[in-house]
Parts: sequence; structure tokens; C-alpha cells
Amino acid sequence: MSLRSEVLETLVCPVTREALTWSDEWVANSSRSHRYRISESGIPLFAEEFCSAEGRIQQHHYDKVAAAYMESLAYPHTLAYTEALDDAFLALMEKGGMGRVAEICCGRGEAFRLLRERVGAGVGVDVSISMLEAARRELGGERIAFVQGDATALPIADGAYDNVVMFGGIHHVNDREKLFSEVFRILKPGGRFYWREPVSDFFLWRLLRAIIYRLSPALDHETERPLLYRETVPVLEKVGFELRRWETYGFLGFCFFMNSDVLVFNRAFRFIPGIRAITRGFARLDELTLKLPGMSRAGLQVLGVAQKPASGTP
Ligand SMILES: C[S@@+](CC[C@H](N)C(=O)[O-])C[C@H]1O[C@@H](n2cnc3c(N)ncnc32)[C@H](O)[C@@H]1O
Repeated sequence: MSLRSEVLETLVCPVTREALTWSDEWVANSSRSHRYRISESGIPLFAEEFCSAEGRIQQHHYDKVAAAYMESLAYPHTLAYTEALDDAFLALMEKGGMGRVAEICCGRGEAFRLLRERVGAGVGVDVSISMLEAARRELGGERIAFVQGDATALPIADGAYDNVVMFGGIHHVNDREKLFSEVFRILKPGGRFYWREPVSDFFLWRLLRAIIYRLSPALDHETERPLLYRETVPVLEKVGFELRRWETYGFLGFCFFMNSDVLVFNRAFRFIPGIRAITRGFARLDELTLKLPGMSRAGLQVLGVAQKPASGTP
């Protein structure tokens, strides 16, 4: 069996969880009660008909802002700060190969871009076709497939993946219990769930975000809800996960050099000579700030790891 068919074999009907039958233009569950279109570029559209109301809002939003969103990730200062976050993320992870990996709310596949060499086989799931098309163009192929799906009803079989990664997707899904249950369900026993997300445990970030989310046309304030430790960890544990790491990153440096989709003024930073080195310096300063007593939860981003117990039952 080719790797690609191995990935496709892990997919199921998101409504009935039955196995799937494939043709070139559609995919159907075995009882034929649900049939899903496949886009011209080969992306199965599991969320075209069945999608949570919130997922639908996100789909429209990201289909509209995809180009601007991706442009904002490519500024030199954004790239430099992201590299610092990537280094911190890699330091948090187990070493070596990752086996089968699912990236949920994958957008253009940020986690796969970072972990590509370590992924045995992977599936990226997102509601936005524009984001998925960008991911497919850059990363799609024999090892990694992209599908349209809702994070609260994943088109993936139980216990099919060794690792699940989410970068910037959890905070868009209000029904966290459903989301985390789905992540738990698709993981093998002993599998790990990694995330990198906005966190607002520090009062200043809560305040700033409340204002920015309402003012920025790039954001939809009703579907942006950064994580809070006291709200997130009990839900992870309720669905069966054991929390392994909760580390926050990003302080004033992150505030100024990231989020160019929202903080329009910082797009001009790309013209400053040496901006990459300056940004890395600020990232280091942020790291030191968060090491001060009482500051460990005050970052703007949380990098986390939770594990499904090896016995597999909550
Ligand atoms: C902030 S972007 C992050 C994209 C990418 N992971 C990254 O790091 O750039 C959030 C992504 O979550 C997706 N998304 C939001 N709600 C979703 C849902 N219910 N199901 C699947 N994807 C969803 C959006 O379409 C968007 O691509």
C-alpha cells in the first residue's frame, strides 16, 4: 500500500464514521447515506454540507482573508519571531520520527512545514478551501494529504494517529470539549497532542485583545477566544488527556513584531535594516521576562503537550 493510500485509509465519514468508498469525483460512506464531493485539485470536501455553524463562519472568514493572512506571515520580522517560537516548540517535543501526524485547523500547514522531515504520513484538516489549496500546493503529495473537515466532527478513524498538532486553531473553536474529544478519539493510546495558541491569562493581553478583536477587520471577535489555563486544562482532563507541558512565550516583543494582519503599522518594520536580528533580540528578551518570578503564565502564546494514556481510556 502506498503512503498516500495509507493516509486515505484513515479517513471515515464524519457523520456515521463508516469506511469510505472512493471515485475520482466523490467519496461516499459504505451505506451510501452520505456522499462528499472531491474538489478539482483532489481535496475531499467533508465539510461542504455538514459543518458546525461556527466552522462555517470561520470558513467564510478564512476563505476571504487567506491571501492577506499568508502575506502577513512572510514579513521578515514575523518570520524571525516565528523561528524563535518554532525553536521553543521543537525543544518541547519528543525527538525522532513522529509516525502518523494529523494537523487540525492546518491552514496552509504551518506545523507540517516545521515537522515535515519527521512526519511518516500525515493528514491536514481545515474548513477553508483557500487555506487548504495553499497547503496542498506546497506540501501535498505522497506523504501528506489535505482534506476539508470540521474540527468538531473529524473525518478520521478512532486511534489512527500517533500525534496531533494544532497551531492557532483551538482558539477559533468554542466547543472545546467536542474539539478535544475528537483529538483524543483519533489518537492512538499513548499518542500526543501538541499545540501553539494565543493565551490570555495575563490581564493586559486580555484587555488588549478584547479591544483589537472588535476593531480589526481581519478578525471575527465572536470566534476568537484565546486559551485560559483554568478553562483549558479541566476540559483536556475531562476528555481523558494528561497534561504534560504548558509553557508560555511572547511578551512585548511578540506584541510589536507579530500579528501584522492586525497591527497594520508593523508591516513597515520590514524596511528597517537588520530587522530580523532586532526581532530575535526582542524574542530573547521576552523569554527572559517570562522567566521572572510570577511571570511564567504571562506570555501571549502557549505551547502545550497533552498525552492520551497508554491504556487509551479516560
Ligand atoms: C489562525 S489560522 C491558523 C492556520 C495555521 N494553522 C497557521 O498556523 O497559520 C486558523 C485556521 O483554523 C481554521 N478553522 C477554524 N475553525 C475551524 C473548524 N471548526 N474546523 C476546521 N478548521 C477550522 C481556519 O480555516 C484557519 O485556517
